[in-house]
Amino acid sequence: MGLGRLGFSSLPPQEARPLAPDAPLLEAFVAATRRGRTPFSVPGHKHRARALDADLGLAADPDIPLYGGLDAMKLTGGNLAKAEALAARLWQADWCRFGVGGATQANQALLLAAGGHGDQIVMARSVHRSVFSGLVLAGLRPVWLPARTDPVSLLPLGPTPGQLAAALDAAPGAVAVWITEPSYLGTVADVGALAEVAHARGVPLLVDQAWGAHLGFHSGYPPHALAAGADAMVISAHKMLPAYSQAALVLAREGYLSPGRLETAFDATSTTSPAGAILASTDGARALLAARGPRLLQRLADLVADARRTLAEACPGLAAPGPGDFPPGRFDPAKLVLGLAGTGADGTVVELAAQAAGMPLEMADRDTIVATVTVADTPATVGRLTDVLGRAIAAGSGPARPALAGVSWTLAPEQATDPRTAFFAPWTTVPADRAPGHVGAELIAAYPPGVPILGPGELITADLVAALHRQAAEGSRIAYSADPSLRTFRVLASPPG
Ligand SMILES: Cc1ncc(COP(=O)(O)O)c(C=O)c1O
Repeated sequence: MGLGRLGFSSLPPQEARPLAPDAPLLEAFVAATRRGRTPFSVPGHKHRARALDADLGLAADPDIPLYGGLDAMKLTGGNLAKAEALAARLWQADWCRFGVGGATQANQALLLAAGGHGDQIVMARSVHRSVFSGLVLAGLRPVWLPARTDPVSLLPLGPTPGQLAAALDAAPGAVAVWITEPSYLGTVADVGALAEVAHARGVPLLVDQAWGAHLGFHSGYPPHALAAGADAMVISAHKMLPAYSQAALVLAREGYLSPGRLETAFDATSTTSPAGAILASTDGARALLAARGPRLLQRLADLVADARRTLAEACPGLAAPGPGDFPPGRFDPAKLVLGLAGTGADGTVVELAAQAAGMPLEMADRDTIVATVTVADTPATVGRLTDVLGRAIAAGSGPARPALAGVSWTLAPEQATDPRTAFFAPWTTVPADRAPGHVGAELIAAYPPGVPILGPGELITADLVAALHRQAAEGSRIAYSADPSLRTFRVLASPPG
C-alpha cells in the first residue's frame, strides 16, 4: 500500500475488537486488575497504598508485577514467553525478549552479546548515550565511522556501504557493526546494503532502532531493520507505539549471533521484578500493530504530512523535510522535524509556548524542533499542535540565520583510549580553557537527542568545548557533565599509555 489518503473515518468493526484475547500479557493484566488481589509477595504497596496516602496510592496501586501478577510466581503459565514468541513472529525474528529498562538496557544487553573485552566494534558516532554505557560494560573498543549529513536538509545520514566497507577493512578483527536507524531526525540509511557489507566480512549488523518501533508494517514506511537484513535490533516500544514508559524489545536472527549469548546478556542487565504494565503494554502494542498496523500507520503518515504542509504554509522560511525530500524508504513519514533557521525564530522559545499550552515537545534547540506524533494522535491533537507552533514561530520570526547541521550529527572524535579504560581510570578536573588536549573521563550530551558530544576516552578539542558552551548558551539541556556549568571538565589524570 502506498501513502494514498484513507481519511479519518472510524475503525471498521473487525478493528474495533479488543486486543487482549490476542495478547497473553495484556489479557493477564486485565484479568489481574479485574480479579482483585491480596498478595503476600512484593510489591509492598499491596494495591492498598491509598489507605496510607491517597496520592501515593494513585501512583503505586495500579502496579501489577509479572511474578505473581501477570503469571504465577514460578511463571508456570509461560505468558511472557508466549508474548515474546508472538513478537518474534511479527518482526520475523528467531529470538525476542521484552525489556523494562528502556532501549537503554536493551542496547547494553545487545552490546554485551556482541563481543567482549578489547574487541573492536564499528559504529556510526551518532549513538545514544546508552551505547557508551554498553561499551563500558562490555569493554568493547569503538571504531567510529565518518559522520555524514544531508547537504540540503542538514539532517544526519547513516554511513554509506563504501564507508562501512573501508572501516571494516581497516579493522579486520571487528566483531560487529552498530548503527542507529532511523536517526533521531527521521532519516534512514540503506540498511540492506550495510548488512551485505557486514555479512561479506562475516560480522553481524546490529541496529539501535529505538525510534522505529512502527517501521515495517506499511509499504509507505521504511522496512524494519531485520526485514532489511540486519541481525538484531533494539526497539523502544514506548517511543513510537502506545506502550508504557521503559518498554523495549530486543529482536534477533540466528546465524551471526548466538541466542545463548543474547539470553545471558539480556538476563545480566535485567531486573528480576519487571512491572506488568510495561510488559502488558508491549504485548498490546504488538497486537495492535499486527491487527491494525497498516491502517493506523496510513493515518499517522497523513496527519504528519498535513502538519508539515500547514506549518510550511504558515511560516515562511520554515524547513519541514518529509519523505519526498529523500530517496524512497529513506525517511520516516511519521517524523515531524522542523528547521527554524530560515524563520529567525528560536526553537527554545517556541518550546516554552508549546509547554505553556500543555504540549511538551520531544526536542527543541535554537534551530530544530521535533514533535513526536504517533498512532495515538488524532487530527484534533495535531491541529492544536500546528496552531500553537505556527503562532509561536510567527511571533518569534526575524532575520534568517544560516542553517547549520547540529553538532550531535557532525562529531568526528579521536578515540584516545577505549571508553571502559577511561571510565575506570583516575581522573582530575581542569578548567574548560585548559581541557583541550586532555582525554575526557566523562560523558557529556545535549539531551535530547542524547548523543554524547564528548565520550569517555575521547580527545577534548577547543572546538568541542566551544560547541558545548554554545549548545548550553542556546538553551539545550547539557546532561551528565560532572560540572553542569561546563566551567571545568573531568579528564584522565595521566595520558593513556
Ligand atoms: C537512539 C536511541 N537509542 C536508545 C535510547 C534510549 O531509550 P530509553 O529512554 O527507552 O532507554 C534513546 C532515547 O532517546 C535513543 O534516542
